[in-house]
Amino acid sequence: SNPSLLILPGDGIGPEVMAEVTRIIDWFGAKRGIAFDVSEDLVGGCAYDKHGTPLHDDTMAKALEVDAVLLGAVGGPKYDKLDFSVKPERGLLRLRKEMDLFSNLRPAQCFDALADFSSLKKDVVAGLDIMIVRELTSGVYFGEPRGIFKEGNERVGINTQRYTESEIARVARSAFELARKRNNKLCSMEKANVMESGILWRDVVTEVHEAEYSDVELTHMYADAGAMQLTRWPKQFDVIVTDNLFGDMLSDLAAMLTGSLGMLPSASLGAPTENGRPKALYEPVHGSAPDIAGQGKANPIACILSFAMALRYSFDMGDEATRVEKAVEAVLADGKRTADLLGEEGVTPVSTSEMGDAILAALDAS
Ligand code: NAI
Ligand code: MG
Repeated sequence: SNPSLLILPGDGIGPEVMAEVTRIIDWFGAKRGIAFDVSEDLVGGCAYDKHGTPLHDDTMAKALEVDAVLLGAVGGPKYDKLDFSVKPERGLLRLRKEMDLFSNLRPAQCFDALADFSSLKKDVVAGLDIMIVRELTSGVYFGEPRGIFKEGNERVGINTQRYTESEIARVARSAFELARKRNNKLCSMEKANVMESGILWRDVVTEVHEAEYSDVELTHMYADAGAMQLTRWPKQFDVIVTDNLFGDMLSDLAAMLTGSLGMLPSASLGAPTENGRPKALYEPVHGSAPDIAGQGKANPIACILSFAMALRYSFDMGDEATRVEKAVEAVLADGKRTADLLGEEGVTPVSTSEMGDAILAALDAS
């Protein structure tokens, strides 16, 4: 059967950028004979408007059935005053929770044409292509005990960094699998020098490596040194795996090595299902951008690159993913820029759909 995809465009610029992805999906069907079973549904504010909930149970059920979910963005000023329980973000949180997406993939990829955008030196970032895998459902953001307590006559704020072996092992496996689909290189980051959870993290990653993935080159680094190395010479890395807290910081840091929010894709993966594919949700890092929504100004590339990640990591279509990435690269090299990518004077920005047109033309030429 065809690979199945649930598309959830969401709110604000979500539907605008997703429209360009849909054209690419259609291109694959028409020009490459690769058909996807695509269904579309509501999430976020638009789902609340229709159903009174940011994620209908039927949509949730569909998300659990398909091979991959592709989401645009949720939220907007119209929904800011809603009760917390029905806020647009809750739709996204429910998807992540019920799909049990414990492995968050954030690539930092630098297209040569945009290397000037980085705050780092051009040769440090040009051609950069690394992936940070962040554990997403455990660690210090969730561990118990937590709270603000009274201790004598002052308050004490407590969070607990807690990882079980199985939580570490499953995110490690997810990272090793990715490494195999890329360059067979993984660096694990923790602070085994000062944290017990870090010692266990290093032990378990090493055990999983020895037992199941000894073909992958594994190194370990303290997370603080990792932050330093990421800004000094990021190209030494390929895949990095780390916990929730360190991953939160390191992935934001790595993302900004390369520039605009309108360029950044992401994926969240869960456990492998019977067909061997992990449960998966792909989405751009950016939000619904109410300040530019409805104006045709949004950069569709983050969403398009999220689809490329789906091709590579959910559908084993690495060559087709590369085809999409090369098309994006060619269009940027040709000087096409949406408004968020404008640096130079005298360049006229292209609209969302003109960027889509250009990428489709580059795909035709590939
Ligand atoms: P945002 O990412 O929507 O926008 C931040 C800035 O970046 C804005 O100036 C926006 O115009 C620009 N921008 C973002 N994506 C762009 C694109 N593709 N092309 C060109 N410019 C782009 O973050 P903000 O403004 O903090 O949040 C707006 C709404 O989005 C809020 O309701 C927030 O809750 C929601 N949000 C949703 C997320 C999601 O769906 N995963 C993630 C982050 C925020
Ligand atoms: Mg963050």
